[in-house]
Amino acid sequence: MLPTIEWKDGKVIMIDQRLLPGEEIYHNFENYEQVAEAIETMIIRGAPAIGIAAAMGIALGYKNLRKDDKKAFLKICDRISKTRPTAKNLFWAIDRMKKRYNSLNNSSFEEKKDILIKEALEIEREDIEMNKKMGDFGATLIEDGDSVLTHCNAGALATGGYGTALGVMRAAFFSGKKIRVYADETRPFLQGARLTTWELVKEGIETYLISDNMAGFFMKKGYINKIVVGADRIVANGDIANKIGTYSVAVLAKENNIPFFVAAPYSTFDLSLKTGEQIPIEERDPNEILKINGKNIAPDNVKIINPAFDVTPAKYISAIITEKGIIYPPYSENIKKIIGK
Ligand code: MRU
Repeated sequence: MLPTIEWKDGKVIMIDQRLLPGEEIYHNFENYEQVAEAIETMIIRGAPAIGIAAAMGIALGYKNLRKDDKKAFLKICDRISKTRPTAKNLFWAIDRMKKRYNSLNNSSFEEKKDILIKEALEIEREDIEMNKKMGDFGATLIEDGDSVLTHCNAGALATGGYGTALGVMRAAFFSGKKIRVYADETRPFLQGARLTTWELVKEGIETYLISDNMAGFFMKKGYINKIVVGADRIVANGDIANKIGTYSVAVLAKENNIPFFVAAPYSTFDLSLKTGEQIPIEERDPNEILKINGKNIAPDNVKIINPAFDVTPAKYISAIITEKGIIYPPYSENIKKIIGK
């Protein structure tokens, strides 16, 4: 499997997810501003992956300073924090890098550079480890012969590797269960069509690509018997933010009595927020909706709104799969027990 993001020879390397599946192009980033722009323009995307990119961007920015300078370090962190607002993992990673920096009062500039690079690499390593644990827990919810629907891409590309929701499918498949996956195409950015099917087909997992508006039809027909998605932020009462369209899938799942599972590591949880209504929802460029392959699909003066995420209330979620175990309702109590500090 190609790595999503890598630290190599003092640079950050990322596969350009905007070009997949057509082209597998890697870019080298030599300064933090380039990393920030890569997050904004979705060269890299997916909550855990942008957390790793944030950490590596900070390490890169600090490495390029001429001398130790706390103000300059905080300016780098601030720039990275302005890239995308919804995924908690980004802010979690920035906080972790800040804490590490603040713990280094007795280190030299050279030592601080090395330690910050190591911290970013550790965030990446831990992420992959958590995904594998989550996969093993989640696979216990998947039975031989299941047909599983997913929305967006919560795979290796959205993380350090292996994936959250797709990690659950990988673990079930590797344990010998025959599964079939239905991948929503995920308009407007097409993460499902371009990225999820690319990963799953490479893995040898039977995959059907469907357009978003077909999900209800296939649920009602009995083609789908489990749903697993990732999350960008999970709050104290169990509400989750995930890719726009997730809420519709969850409501349809409830109507059709299909279990709806969310897979995410502890770095996605934000227990400072009580309900999903408090989660900031990113609004993206209207051109993502207006254009397909650079060509307008509607009159160019039409009004467009393009929220990138929606909130699924906890009452639609059958369980949350984490690296620490599976969390069942009542979420306000059980999230605190398993994730809360
Ligand atoms: O806009 P994106 O592509 O960054 O949105 C990604 C998602 O919504 C994923 O489902 C989520 O980040 C979980 S990834 C493990």
